[in-house]
Amino acid sequence: MKGEGNPVTIHVGIIGAGNISETHARAVCETRSAEVVAVYGQNVEKARRLAGLYGGAVYGDVESFLAHRPMEIVAVGSPSGLHAEQGIAAARRGLHVLVEKPIDISIARADALIEACDAAGVKLGVFFQDRVAPDIVRLKKIIDEGKLGRIMLASARVKWFRPPEYYGASRWRGTWVLDGGGALMNQGVHTVDLLLWLLGDVSRVYARAVTALHEIEVEDMVVATLEFANGAVGTLEATTAAYPGYPRQLELTGTEGTCILQHDRLISADLRTPLDDFASDDDQRGSQNRIQNLNASATSPIVSDVRGHQEIFADFVRAIEQNGTPRCDGRDAWRSVQLIEAVYESSRTGHPVSLAPREKA
Ligand SMILES: NC(=O)c1ccc[n+]([C@@H]2O[C@H](COP(=O)([O-])OP(=O)(O)OC[C@H]3O[C@@H](n4cnc5c(N)ncnc54)[C@H](O)[C@@H]3O)[C@@H](O)[C@H]2O)c1
Repeated sequence: MKGEGNPVTIHVGIIGAGNISETHARAVCETRSAEVVAVYGQNVEKARRLAGLYGGAVYGDVESFLAHRPMEIVAVGSPSGLHAEQGIAAARRGLHVLVEKPIDISIARADALIEACDAAGVKLGVFFQDRVAPDIVRLKKIIDEGKLGRIMLASARVKWFRPPEYYGASRWRGTWVLDGGGALMNQGVHTVDLLLWLLGDVSRVYARAVTALHEIEVEDMVVATLEFANGAVGTLEATTAAYPGYPRQLELTGTEGTCILQHDRLISADLRTPLDDFASDDDQRGSQNRIQNLNASATSPIVSDVRGHQEIFADFVRAIEQNGTPRCDGRDAWRSVQLIEAVYESSRTGHPVSLAPREKA
């Protein structure tokens, strides 16, 4: 698939073959020296279609797929509740594992996957593409350099919309067994990951999750109050019932000012000491096109801008080649699932839930 002078050194197998697997395949194809070599999905027609577009042998059973060689990485884009089981099977075959978010739908399964990858000596990475978005990286730097001061308050809103067909036409979305939850485990998890990445651990949560609009067994609306280990407090709202769907909004207030992130763009940085190179004027920072991009995940699961996934993939390849740690590894991705489990528990019991950092190494 790749041109001469650009030898393929990384061979990737794709599990899933649905919506996000296409993003994975595109990300691989856009990466120098990487190639899709095998595709496995429960729906062989979908696997055939994907392989027709991006290359690779088609498999209808997982064992033959995992035996395909050469193959060094498996990109898991199946329903969330299958990530650990399939990742463990890949690790046992000596394959590096790059899974979609969430890492899986429980910390018990996330633990099992982390341990299997450790035991096999393979890398485990998780697609949280927000972590490579330029403005979000910039926000992280602003925080780490102390320009926001001591963070006191975080307000996160994920007011997205999914139409009834999003759930109705899927065998796994909106189910406890394979989605592991709804608006928070599937959509809000990106923002949960960001809160933990930017502010550190949450030590206590009090939450209410309800099914307000959709005919699904899991929640389509969550509100939570968060107490961070560093003393900050926060609120988190996540829904898939907010027609027509709005960009995710994250506002962080520190002793030095307030930064506002909209989707993955830093739209305000109102600091006591202004940043030299920041203009919040939309004319300078974005066109109408970008605003449309901005709304994409608010209304659709399709990730048409492949850059985030491509960068996560390239980072994962670097981690393998240099024996480093991926941008978001299994242990880091475990934390968002822990917090989401705590939100669900708090909602079920009506009580606040305390969280402790992962004990295992
Ligand atoms: N990073 C992101 O922004 C992002 C966006 C969308 C989805 N996702 C994640 O990607 C995963 C898949 O979501 P999607 O939107 O692609 O769903 P999808 O339904 O479009 O695709 C899932 C595919 O998995 C296949 N499948 C079902 N059971 C399987 C099995 N046992 N083995 C192999 N394949 C099986 C289905 O046939 C389907 O083609 C989820 O974990 C979701 O959270 C991430």
